Amino acid sequence: MNYDQILNQKIQGVKPSGIRKFFDILEEMTDAITLGIGEPDFVTPWHIRDAGIYSLERGHTKYTSNAGMLELRREIVNYLRRRFDLSYDYTSQVLVTVGGSEAIDLSLRCLLNPGDEVIIPTPSFVCYGPLTEMAGGVPVYVELKAENEFRLTPEELKAVITPKTKVLVLPFPCNPTGGIMERKDLEALMPILKDTNIMVLSDEIYAELTYGQHHVSPANLTELYDRTVLVNGFSKSHAMTGWRMGYVCAPKPIVAAMTKLHQFGIMSAPTTSQYAAIEAMRNGDGDIEHMREEYDSRRRYLVENLNRIGLTCFEPKGAFYVFPCIKSSGLSSQEFCERFLREEKVAVIPGDAFGPGGEGYVRACYAASMKDIAEAVSRMDNFLQNLKGKEN
Ligand SMILES: Cc1ncc(COP(=O)(O)O)c(C=O)c1O
Repeated sequence: MNYDQILNQKIQGVKPSGIRKFFDILEEMTDAITLGIGEPDFVTPWHIRDAGIYSLERGHTKYTSNAGMLELRREIVNYLRRRFDLSYDYTSQVLVTVGGSEAIDLSLRCLLNPGDEVIIPTPSFVCYGPLTEMAGGVPVYVELKAENEFRLTPEELKAVITPKTKVLVLPFPCNPTGGIMERKDLEALMPILKDTNIMVLSDEIYAELTYGQHHVSPANLTELYDRTVLVNGFSKSHAMTGWRMGYVCAPKPIVAAMTKLHQFGIMSAPTTSQYAAIEAMRNGDGDIEHMREEYDSRRRYLVENLNRIGLTCFEPKGAFYVFPCIKSSGLSSQEFCERFLREEKVAVIPGDAFGPGGEGYVRACYAASMKDIAEAVSRMDNFLQNLKGKEN
C-alpha cells in the first residue's frame, strides 16, 4: 500500500512538533533533569481527585449532556464572574471540552472557510498553525519582539490584516515567552478590529498564572466581547492536565456550532473529570493561590540567576516559563539544547519550536522542583563556562 497516496494531504504537510525530538533523546537518559515539559509538577489537589473518585463510587459512569453537565457549566460561569469579572449565560454560551486543545480545534474548524487567514503571534504554543491548516485556513505568523516584552502591538497587527483575515489568535499569558497583554495593550488593538469581522480566539489557559497584575481578557472589553472566543481549562490552573478538561465561552451562535461538532466528534467530555472539575470550580481558589505563589518564587529565582550567569532573560509576567536569549553562546537554539542535554543532562526546549521569532531563545519550564531548578542553573553555568573555555 502506498500510504502517502492514502493519507490526507494536509496532515502530510504538517511538520511534527519540534519538541518531540528532545523527549526522544530524554527517554534514553535515566538521570536527566527536565525543564522541558509544560505541565505542573503538582498532583491535582486531593479534594478534586476525591470528587472524581466519589463520582465513580456513586456509579456516575454514563455520558453527560453534549455541552457538559449543567452544574459544571453553571460553576464555570460563577468562576469566570468571580475571578475575572466576565459574564456568560451557562445555558447557551459555554461548552465543556476535552482540554483547551479541543476548544482551540473546534473554534478554528467552526470559524474558518477555505483560504481564510488566521493571524498567529509567535513565538507561541505549537498547535495554532497546524490546526488552522487542518481546518482549511492559512496561518499568518507575526513575530513578537523581546523589546516589546513579547506583546502584540497595533502596528504589528495592522501590517498583517488583509480582506481574508478571519481570526486573530491572542495567546496570552504566553507559552513560551511569559508575555501578557494588559488592558491598555488590548485597547490599543480595538480601533484596528473595529469595523471588521475578525474574530478573536483568546487562549487564556494561563489566566490564573500572572505575577504582579491581574489577567485581562479581550472579553472584558465591551467592544471586543461579541467577537471573542475565550478558551480556558483546568490543566494549568488546577494541575489537572491528565483529566483533559477545558471549556470555551463565546457568543451563542458560535457555541451552538461548536457543540454540534463536539457532539459528532466527542459526544461529551469525560464524566469523572467533569465531577472533579465542579469541585475545582467551587473550592479550588485556594489551590490556585498556593501554586501561583510557588511558581512565582521559582520564576524570580530563575530570572535572577539566568541573568547572573550571562543569559539575558526577559522577566515573564505570566504562565510558567522563562525564555532566555542564548544568542551570546554562538549556538543555534537547536544546537544549544541538544548539547546542553547531552553534555549536562538538562532538557530545555529550543525557541524555534515555537515559530518565527523563537530562534536565539530557549524555553525552560519552572513547573519543576526548586531543587531541580537550582541544579539546572548550576549545570547551565557550567555549560556556558565550558563553551567560553573552548572559544578561548
Ligand atoms: C498556551 C496553551 N494553550 C493550550 C494548551 C492545551 O492545554 P489543555 O491541556 O487544556 O489541552 C497548552 C498546553 O500546554 C498551552 O500551553
